[in-house]
Amino acid sequence: SGLVSNLAEILAVGEAMERALALLDGGYVVAIPTETVYGLAADATNGVAVARIFEAKGRPRFNPLIAHVADLAMASRIAEFHPLSTKLAEAFWPGPLTLVLPQRAQNGIHPLVTAGLDTIALRIPRGFGGELIARLGRPLAAPSANSSGRISATTAEAVAADLGEKIKLVVDGGATPVGLESTIVKIEDGRLRLLRPGGIAAEEIEAVAGAELMRGGGGIEAPGMLASHYAPGASVRLNAKKIAGGEALLAFGRDRAEGWQDAVALRNLSEGGDLREAATNLFAYMQALDRSGAATIAVEPIPHEGLGEAINDRLARAAAPRDKIA
Ligand code: TXA
Ligand code: MG
Repeated sequence: SGLVSNLAEILAVGEAMERALALLDGGYVVAIPTETVYGLAADATNGVAVARIFEAKGRPRFNPLIAHVADLAMASRIAEFHPLSTKLAEAFWPGPLTLVLPQRAQNGIHPLVTAGLDTIALRIPRGFGGELIARLGRPLAAPSANSSGRISATTAEAVAADLGEKIKLVVDGGATPVGLESTIVKIEDGRLRLLRPGGIAAEEIEAVAGAELMRGGGGIEAPGMLASHYAPGASVRLNAKKIAGGEALLAFGRDRAEGWQDAVALRNLSEGGDLREAATNLFAYMQALDRSGAATIAVEPIPHEGLGEAINDRLARAAAPRDKIA
């Protein structure tokens, strides 16, 4: 009857492989853990399956997806690799780096995945996702497993709470170790452009490439990088040195903002001021503070180096005016 809601089954990684393969083979979406955040995966060669991703997320069709592959051989059948892209792939894959590369003709990827662009975003995820793709033998298109415009999910519970009525299976791999989405780098004419800071610090990529990453550039570089994204229900106030009544506090390090005792809820991203730990905690703590019911989440200043660049990027989007949500 219409009153029955079908909630996703949640299976631990150790028992989920066969069921996940059967669903993906049948053209369904499956939420899977990766080292960065949970992904909403579907067979990238099947247009119906890929359409189900956009439908479940409420994602605009002009926003392309990352194709996840099992190895460099699968990646090179899909896109053109030049020496610099190969060097980065060998240094960071599997891992939180996504490369945007020129597509090969007739590579089997459904055009919905790339929103008709002639480039494609590729990465090899660590852990269950990588094994799943190898077993399936086909690439998986997967955006973060959250409704469009909301905070990415770093636990199976967060995925189920957001998308549980729209999908059949969530594979539970526990909390994702990196906690932020992958760093996206585009290779254009032998030069590198940072499209999205993420789970690998830009400095690490620059060290391997032996060159600086270009930043900025005109317009929305990754179509998904709309100003307001990762939005919690509460409004977000950045660089707070002082707390106003009724606010929740997202803290960092040992020095507290003035008036912190009056915060209605408090989470510290990292007592010790470790940006890697802060990245891992960011989305879960934002969600926890949002659930406190505070109208505003005040955020203490976070240093802008290393993973701090990606953390500040996500916080700035969470704080942006909401009329730009897609
Ligand atoms: O860590 C991650 O990257 C996670 C996990 C699941 O792999 N995925 C993820 O996907 O964050 P998503 O769809 O939430 O973000 C991918 C971003 C979007 O902003 C999209 O616009 C951009 O990648 N993108 C995809 N293909 C592109 C292309 N050909 N050129 C430029 N940007 C592209
Ligand atoms: Mg996303």
